[in-house]
Amino acid sequence: MSIEETIIRIIKNAKRPVVLTGAGVSKESGIPTFRDAMDGLWAQYDPQQLATPRAFAQNPKLVWDWYEYRRGLVNHAKPNAGHITLAQMEKLYPKMWIITQNVDNLHEQAGSTRIIRLHGNIAETVCYNHCRGERIPIDKADFVWDADQSTPPRCPHCGGYLRPNVVWFEENLPAKAMQDAFNVATRCDVMLVVGTSGIVSPASDLPHVALHNGAALIEINPEESALTRYMDAHLKGASGVVLPSLLGMIS
Ligand code: APR
Repeated sequence: MSIEETIIRIIKNAKRPVVLTGAGVSKESGIPTFRDAMDGLWAQYDPQQLATPRAFAQNPKLVWDWYEYRRGLVNHAKPNAGHITLAQMEKLYPKMWIITQNVDNLHEQAGSTRIIRLHGNIAETVCYNHCRGERIPIDKADFVWDADQSTPPRCPHCGGYLRPNVVWFEENLPAKAMQDAFNVATRCDVMLVVGTSGIVSPASDLPHVALHNGAALIEINPEESALTRYMDAHLKGASGVVLPSLLGMIS
């Protein structure tokens, strides 16, 4: 049996597939990945240096503006063929889960419903001080701006700065999402690892959890990642191309 036939058989027979997605799945929708070289205004900044509580404490307006820029990209983006194929696959596999590191809403927009978000949602804004205990989204209409707009908007409840509802480096992931992700990774029979460099933990631990529990691992990525060597197969290419052809082969 060829490697392709083996992959098709694995995916066809799957009962509880899990798809772990990263920034690469949204790249064909026009959203730069984290480790792409960026163009223009933001080329001089390292995204990883902006995505930390320390960066926000040092220069809140810079970090706020960077997320405003990314939010603008996300707001204009449409799901690509990769997102759409994953939504179609949910119909074939009613127990399928997507675990995403992405903070856009493109899986939802494509029609997927079983999604575990590990890193939050860029469309939402929360109080930096968590003044109400939880990360409760604050409506844009309630933002309080300083007259010169030289800072992020302020929380209408405590006057502290507002921030995007995303998980920065050095922050904990949402506990329930993390628990759910480990549960489904433990139980899955195949994990598709799509468009992630696999270097950010704990998301990058999930393929190992799946592997140790007997699942097959299949990667879809034009490049090698930190996880490639653990894979049963690496389908080299853009997810917007590889996923539709995979679905064509299994259906
Ligand atoms: N299709 C599939 N994969 C692609 C495509 C594409 N069209 N284009 C690029 N890729 C791959 C790259 O080869 C790379 O392996 O997507 C991956 C993107 O890697 P990163 O930028 O590191 O994104 P990700 O793995 O999602 O980052 C994890 O890091 O900064 C944090 O919180 C942020 O969620 C993010 C986390």
